[in-house]
Amino acid sequence: MSGTLPRSRPAPRRYPPWRDRAGRFSVPKAAVLAGTVLPAALIAYWWLNDDLGPRTLNAAIHEFGKWAERFLLLSLAVTPARYVFDQGKVVIVRRMLGVTAATYAVAHFSLYVADQQFSFWKIDNEIVNRFYLTIGFIALVGLVALGITSTDGWVRRLGRNWKRLHWLIYPIGVLALWHSFLQSKAGISAALFVAGVFLWLIAWRLLPTRLRADPWAVLALAPVVAVLTAGLEFAWYGLATRVNPWRVLNANLDIEYGPSIAVWVAIAGLALTAAMLLLRIVRRKKPRKSVSSVPSPA
Ligand code: HEM
Repeated sequence: MSGTLPRSRPAPRRYPPWRDRAGRFSVPKAAVLAGTVLPAALIAYWWLNDDLGPRTLNAAIHEFGKWAERFLLLSLAVTPARYVFDQGKVVIVRRMLGVTAATYAVAHFSLYVADQQFSFWKIDNEIVNRFYLTIGFIALVGLVALGITSTDGWVRRLGRNWKRLHWLIYPIGVLALWHSFLQSKAGISAALFVAGVFLWLIAWRLLPTRLRADPWAVLALAPVVAVLTAGLEFAWYGLATRVNPWRVLNANLDIEYGPSIAVWVAIAGLALTAAMLLLRIVRRKKPRKSVSSVPSPA
């Protein structure tokens, strides 16, 4: 046995978010970074131009909340995109999207604090006594914890536990969605569509690995997730409101009202399958490295 001490691996160098791990300028990373800043810039622009309506602060709270949720879903969609479109490289933007979701959630909360005139006693009281704020706050704390522990240093420090910890993104997503359902006063359509996409992301994760890039399996997910979305809508009206859920279900089946949210979710699933097949046809001539040969982080 040699008497040399094991040498610890040097920590990888840190680069700004528009550079890849080798320090080179990365067009996809720079484009996604610009995309993460754009909604905040637009909200600021509307604010400065008085385009957010009479309740400016409240409108900004809503906008940041919606974008926090969207970026959360986008970060969850990275792994499916990697398989479905056979694009191993998309993983380089996952961390950026997750951290962006946490940042928008913090901005959403900070604006709420400003809306309460920084009265921390009142804010504490509201968070403890209003259920939709309680679960929103738990989701916020969870999302921030995942954002902080997403650095290379934390990945190394936590080892196997890192994956276990970051799996918490799913319960955090459930709480964030529940929060947005509970505060939906003018109808749950937008929250329900987001929930449908979230259900698709979970259903895809439940597929056996060998089927995850199979267009027929992805096609089969569309009606399954549509039924789950309609079921969620039925359960919501039945359990959380006084509206008769059977009437909602009937309206879902009546084409006179136009496509229901569940149908839109199915349409999105079908469009995804069509995009998958189209991409395969386009690439047929060029043999490429399959996604299964790219090393897989979570
Ligand atoms: C991960 C954390 C969170 C996410 C993803 C989130 C997301 C959302 C979403 C999507 C909406 C609805 C926007 C709309 O449909 O127009 C919303 C509304 C709202 N959220 Fe959050 N939220 C989070 C945490 C919090 C926290 C911690 C608070 C405050 C303690 C909070 C306070 C509010 C308020 C006051 C509204 C508007 C309710 C109203 O106008 O009646 N949220 N949030």
